[in-house]
Amino acid sequence: MFHLVLNLVLSASLFRAVLLSIIVFLLAKLFLFKSYSLPLPPGPFGVPILGFLPFLGKDIHLTLTDLSTKYGPIYQIFLGSKRVVVINDAKIIKEAFRLPAFSGRPDTELTRILQGYGIVNTDGALWKEQRAFLHSVLRKLGAKSVTLGRDCLEHKIRSQVRELLNDLSNTNGQSVRLRPFLACAVSNVIGSLLMSMTFKSSDNKFRRIIELMEEGFRLFAVAMPVNFFPLLRYMPLVSYAYEKMKANREETSHYFTEIVDEHRKSLCENNVRDFVDAYLVQHERIKQSGQPSFFSEKQLIQVMNDIFSAGLENVTSTVEWAVLFLMLNPDVQRKVYDEIELVIGTEREPELADLESMPYTEATFWEVLRRSNIVALGNAHCTLDDSTLAGFSIPATTHILPNLYAINMSPDLWENPENFVPERFLQNGQVCKPDYFIPFSVGRRMCLGDVLTKMEVFLFLTSLLQKFSLQIPDQEKPPQVASIVSASMSPKPFKVCLVPRCL
Ligand code: HEM
Repeated sequence: MFHLVLNLVLSASLFRAVLLSIIVFLLAKLFLFKSYSLPLPPGPFGVPILGFLPFLGKDIHLTLTDLSTKYGPIYQIFLGSKRVVVINDAKIIKEAFRLPAFSGRPDTELTRILQGYGIVNTDGALWKEQRAFLHSVLRKLGAKSVTLGRDCLEHKIRSQVRELLNDLSNTNGQSVRLRPFLACAVSNVIGSLLMSMTFKSSDNKFRRIIELMEEGFRLFAVAMPVNFFPLLRYMPLVSYAYEKMKANREETSHYFTEIVDEHRKSLCENNVRDFVDAYLVQHERIKQSGQPSFFSEKQLIQVMNDIFSAGLENVTSTVEWAVLFLMLNPDVQRKVYDEIELVIGTEREPELADLESMPYTEATFWEVLRRSNIVALGNAHCTLDDSTLAGFSIPATTHILPNLYAINMSPDLWENPENFVPERFLQNGQVCKPDYFIPFSVGRRMCLGDVLTKMEVFLFLTSLLQKFSLQIPDQEKPPQVASIVSASMSPKPFKVCLVPRCL
């Protein structure tokens, strides 16, 4: 009897062990040894479980660019168990990003904080509908063309330029950190476009929102490893950044919800004042028609978060970088000023219409974007299906990183890429942008704020230079061209002397 029971137990265990082995084998075959029509991209080995994560270093863009010299324009690494394909070549990025299969966004611990709302970190039908709507509203508000329908937007930017110049004139030529002044002016441009709101830099609530937005970019860089190894969420520093991101998002969402409630009270379908109005009107129309859609209040709040943070951080950093480069390169500053004198003069305010007659200034704008590498690794995409690219198989759910830094700093594409030389964007006195220069990315998910950025940077920069010469503070060493590495690269804090031109 005892033997019979023992045999039964043993054979049951044996059966379970065999079954388990078969399942493990099938799963491994499915996920690891799946055969593809083409080879997978080459790439370095990492360590078990963590993959290449421990070797990324602090300056991830530099590590990834180094790897491209060994593994070529497209290679793969594993971060944790996640396959990440890094593309270091503009042609291949363009080939990929025009395909629907490459238009996804990774589903990660950090994007899950956003609960599937917004535009920047969503994909599929929700993203398609909401991106198309944002695009159409930005066009109507004049933010998608430097020439068409831009009057109202130009008026908004120019009124912020005046405020900025006024605030700066009180600095009396002393050395200042420009960032807080710029952040206030730039956020007022996006604030008026989005929700018809402008603030004084002394407004505490507003200062808090700017702080939260700026902190969000820094926290992202600290918490990013949890996307690839979720257990890191329990490491003190990462866990702090992760929890802080969640809390900050709740705080900004609460703030934006109050603004939406105010808009609802004064909403008038025939007088759409800003993006929030446009969204509420369209939401109501869709509700009336009974059509299925992704319009919702939560979605609106996250889109406001998305646009406000993209519009604030990247544009502020671009103007700040421009000031740094012009201060360090007085010959370039002189040439931009000469163009201002020639086309605009010293009295009249700069206008967007001047841009087409100022190729050197436009070339300087493009060189600032190239050399500063504000969005060094773009935004990660994710493959929605198994696909192929540049002779390689790319499995579904692979993270795709466009290494814009590698393109912008490639010595094969640019002579002395470290140097700040606007002339590289000029040919016979005309602006000439090479096809491989893609600071706003390309394809289906290309940045929606490219034209707005160009308008803002042009007006802020020319107006600053018209009134002030930008100088390194006396008895200080020239600041270094060094970035704070986060989701978007801003220059390390520096001071500038704004010396009034009329003195
Ligand atoms: C210097 C300024 C800026 C730079 C360098 C920049 C760059 C980028 C890049 C590289 C992407 C990722 C595209 C991709 O996934 O392939 C992006 C996405 C985006 N940007 Fe910008 N951006 C800037 C300013 C702005 C501004 C002012 C806005 C405000 C409207 C904005 C709105 C967006 C949005 C909504 C997306 C997400 C598009 C999508 O996922 O479909 N950006 N930007």
